[in-house]
Formats: sequence, structure tokens, C-alpha cells
Amino acid sequence: MEQGAILVTGGAGYIGSHVVRQLTAAGERVVVLDNLSTGFAEAVGNAELVVGDTGDQALVSRLLASHGIDSVLHFAAHTVVPESVSNPLKYYGNNTCHTRNLLACCQEAGVRHFIFSSTAAVYGIPEGDACTEDSPNAPINAYGTSKLMSEWMLRDLSAASGLRHVALRYFNVAGSSPDGSIGQSTPRATLLIKVACEVATGRREKLMIFGTDYPTPDGTGVRDYIHVEDLADAHLKALDYLRGGGESVTLNCGYGHGYSVREVVDAVERVAGHRLNVEEAPRRPGDPPILIARADRARSLLGWEPKYDDLDFIVRTSLEWEKKLAAGEVYGA
Ligand code: UD1
Repeated sequence: MEQGAILVTGGAGYIGSHVVRQLTAAGERVVVLDNLSTGFAEAVGNAELVVGDTGDQALVSRLLASHGIDSVLHFAAHTVVPESVSNPLKYYGNNTCHTRNLLACCQEAGVRHFIFSSTAAVYGIPEGDACTEDSPNAPINAYGTSKLMSEWMLRDLSAASGLRHVALRYFNVAGSSPDGSIGQSTPRATLLIKVACEVATGRREKLMIFGTDYPTPDGTGVRDYIHVEDLADAHLKALDYLRGGGESVTLNCGYGHGYSVREVVDAVERVAGHRLNVEEAPRRPGDPPILIARADRARSLLGWEPKYDDLDFIVRTSLEWEKKLAAGEVYGA
């Protein structure tokens, strides 16, 4: 039986574009809705791109009906934790209110499957070594809260309607497509590996280590870094799962172990082959000390088998893309 078409919001962004690439390679019919605020038209490849906002209900309803959409993958969001602390309403507006509008359109159009980009930030400062999906939700920044509220809307809507969903809680996504065709060109990036690679290629003067007094082995923040291609694959597996009749579920996406900021800096220096200009700085608002996933559930339920659990490989693909950016060879340069 032919599968329905897929709407990917935020498909021109960093993570969304890697998912779009995998979906189109698998022969899926994909429509991207992206306002290009941080995404790039070039990143969507052969997929159809509609430039617009997820909060625009008239546009979204039109798209769902005209393309016969039965699955929605929702990436469009603001994602910068410290910005969410200084400008919370920006995050509640885009991440929560616009998701509510999108869900209203989905309900009206009878969309059956919804895959939501959630975040490890819903756990706040977790107790213990690693978070399971059942760990308490206690976000410490507006970003995490804005996403958690969307999870709750999805939970309630799935209970009240025929919609089924998978909420994927991403840990720290990094790396770029190993074939070098797409990558992370996000302007004014704040992500550690991206920033470190910008320093390595000379596009940024120095790397600040935000906090050296955390209760971690070397005093710097620890995160579970996952390659974007593995994360993208989890979305395709989640779609298969829903199409196969799977129940709504929330799943962590990480590798289950973490690296400190200093360990990441070491890896970037190793891969780049030279030292980075690094400076120690105070803690950044909204940052928890440690975030590591227990991700067994995604593996067992979806059959997800990550392929790139290797920090140096992750860094290498990031650095390759960064070099192309520095040379002006790719979009976003
Ligand atoms: C990232 C995601 C967030 C997600 C979270 C899940 C983005 C923009 N952020 O946030 O959506 O909820 O993972 O874990 O997608 N650091 C430095 N110097 C820098 C940059 C970062 O020391 O220049 C440190 C941070 O203090 C932190 C670690 O590196 O300890 C990772 O930070 P970052 O890469 O910004 O990601 P998160 O804030 O964890």
C-alpha cells in the first residue's frame, strides 16, 4: 500500500534537513515547511520547500489537505538554551503556541502520525547517572518547559483522537552528513562542537569553557553527543513504528555515555591536529551539569541501531563541514 505524504516542519534546518535527506533517499513523498529563519533552502535537496510558518494555520491546513499528508515530523523550533532564559516568551510563542496551532490543523485534517522533536532539557538536573524516559520532568530553562508543554499537548490529543505520536527526546546532536552534502550552517551557533570547529578553522577567535566548577570529574559540563545521522535514522524508524500500528510513546535519543567539555576540546584538537584558543569562563545560565541518556527503549522498540557512536568521527564530520564553510564552498558560508 502506498504511504501518505509527509510534512516536515523545520526541514531546512540542521537536524530536519538530515531527516529530509534520509526520507527522500528512501523514496518518501516529502513537503518541507520552513520559515528559513535559521534554515537554508539549499539544505532540502529535492524535496518541495514551502516557505512559511508553522503558526500560520491557514497555510498549514492548506498544505495538509493539498498534499494528502498523513504524517507530520515537527522540527521547527527555537533551540538555544541561554536565549530561552533571557527571552522566554519567544520560546513559548514559537515552540509551544505554534505547536498547538499545528496540532489543531493536524486534528482537523485527520493526520495519523506525528513525530515530535523533544529534548533532554525536559529532565532539568537529573538525579543519578543517566535519565530514563521515566525520570522526573523538571526543566530548568524555558526551552525545556516549552518542549515539555508540547509533549503534554500531544499526550492529551493522542488520548482524545486517532492521532498517534512518537516524542523523541534528543540529547546533544552533533556532526554533519559524512558525504559532505549537508551540514550545520546555523548562524550564530552556540553548540559546543560547532563552536569548537569554528575556532579550529579560524572563523571564531576563541572557545569559552562555560563553567569549570561543576560536580563532574573534570569540573566541566558532561553531555551525551549523538551523531545527527543516527538521530535522523531514529525518526525513520519511529515513522515505520507508527505506520505499523505502534502506540504513542516517548523515547530518549542518545548513546548512553557522556563527554565533558574538556574531552570534546581534546577531541577537536586531536582531529584538527592543532591546539585551540580556549578560555575558562563562568557557568552559562540554564546549563545542567550532566545530561546522559538511557536509550534502551528506542533500541528495543524501534530496532534503532546507532552507527556513529564515536566522538572523533562526530568531530571529523563537523570539522569537514566547517572547513567547507570557511572556504565559502557551501550554503551558509
Ligand atoms: C543542546 C541543545 C538543546 C538540547 C540539549 C540537550 C541546541 C542549540 N542546544 O543544549 O536544544 O536540549 O543539548 O542536552 O541545539 N559549552 C561551552 N562553550 C561553548 C558552548 C557550550 O563550554 O561555547 C558547554 C555548555 O556549557 C555545556 C556543553 O558545552 O556544558 C554543551 O553545550 P551546548 O553544545 O550549547 O548544548 P546544550 O546547552 O547542552
